[in-house]
Amino acid sequence: MRIVNVPLGQRSYAIKTGSGLLGRLGHECARLQLGKRCAVFSDRNVAPRFAKAVRRSLANSGFESVLITVSAGETAKSLKSVQTCYDQLAAHRFERKSFVVALGGGVVGDLAGFVAATYLRGVPFVQVPTTLLAQVDSSVGGKVGVNLKAGKNLVGAFHQPKLVLCDLDTLRTLPAREFRAGLAEVIKYGIIYDAALFRRLERDLPKLLRREPKILEAIVAHCCEIKGEVVAQDETESGRRAILNFGHTIGHALEAISNYGKYLHGEAISVGQVAAAEISAKVLGLPTRDVERIRKLFHRAGLPTKVLLNKVQREKLFAAMRLDKKVSGGEIKFVLAKKIGCVEFSCRVPPAVIALALDFRPSTLD
Ligand SMILES: NC(=O)c1ccc[n+]([C@@H]2O[C@H](COP(=O)([O-])OP(=O)(O)OC[C@H]3O[C@@H](n4cnc5c(N)ncnc54)[C@H](O)[C@@H]3O)[C@@H](O)[C@H]2O)c1
Ligand SMILES: [Zn+2]
Repeated sequence: MRIVNVPLGQRSYAIKTGSGLLGRLGHECARLQLGKRCAVFSDRNVAPRFAKAVRRSLANSGFESVLITVSAGETAKSLKSVQTCYDQLAAHRFERKSFVVALGGGVVGDLAGFVAATYLRGVPFVQVPTTLLAQVDSSVGGKVGVNLKAGKNLVGAFHQPKLVLCDLDTLRTLPAREFRAGLAEVIKYGIIYDAALFRRLERDLPKLLRREPKILEAIVAHCCEIKGEVVAQDETESGRRAILNFGHTIGHALEAISNYGKYLHGEAISVGQVAAAEISAKVLGLPTRDVERIRKLFHRAGLPTKVLLNKVQREKLFAAMRLDKKVSGGEIKFVLAKKIGCVEFSCRVPPAVIALALDFRPSTLD
């Protein structure tokens, strides 16, 4: 097991990564001095697989748990589900010392975290992420929230977990497409923060795609370490935390114009990161060979690196970028790479350069 600490003063917590950790959840929670009662939030895909092991472990350490299951997929991240969850907590007479366990992907983590942040003005919560994306990204950093019709994640809070427990065994049942989508965030960490990680991914990608436990453990823990460091420097995203949004300006817009149906988040930000690399070459002088390395790594990971948009779609994409909540003063700001492992945020980019980056020829890669 690898342990990474996120240093946030009184809100500091550990991220523990390894195999067979679901069975240790009760023991880990007992060390946190939480109340005796908890609610395990999960979804209809994850609960049948893992909720029993989680609740048994909690019971073995003397915790009483109730299971709250929501539907699988993005639609569960709504105010309607929040209301249902509050009602269930109230029906079970949840108290201030009771705690929430989020067992699932980013959807369950964001929803359960938001419920925990607001119910009784905040109860403690523990993240048990079961997708690669949730393990390397959404379970760390304390951003929780739900969607509105007007857009994703428009209602939310910062509420740090007390513990993040990444059991790599849970990834075995994750569909291949979801696993690859998580890799888009893994590759992102290499680009924004760590050239050695990027090189390691170039070398070890086949092992990672086979989900070999040893490399998975090293990579997941390392990504959590990077995210933890970035979050510790800027918990509420007043500045540097924005580097985590590399590839997300275009990625989010692509998700929005396809009504969140066509692309998984990881697929959209894969396209977005390759476009951001193209833009980086024009604006910050990222060497062309690094743009190609970036494109190739996403391609090898089985992720899309381009979209072919017609004129109407391109206009919609620009409109969506302007609506993104990261836009300030009407200007679209980008995170761009100077070189692999080093990025700058708040970069202004002329619309013509964005358009050019979105229009590149079909890749010649195999
Ligand atoms: N809070 C943050 O900082 C942050 C960061 C990135 C993304 N997010 C949010 O995360 C969400 C996406 O998360 P996600 O990609 O994990 O999606 P998800 O939670 O929808 O999970 C993807 C699918 O995999 C299933 N699943 C989960 N674990 C499984 C397992 N072990 N075996 C088999 N099936 C499993 C789920 O039921 C779901 O159908 C989005 O809502 C996004 O906004 C939040
Ligand atoms: Zn993302």
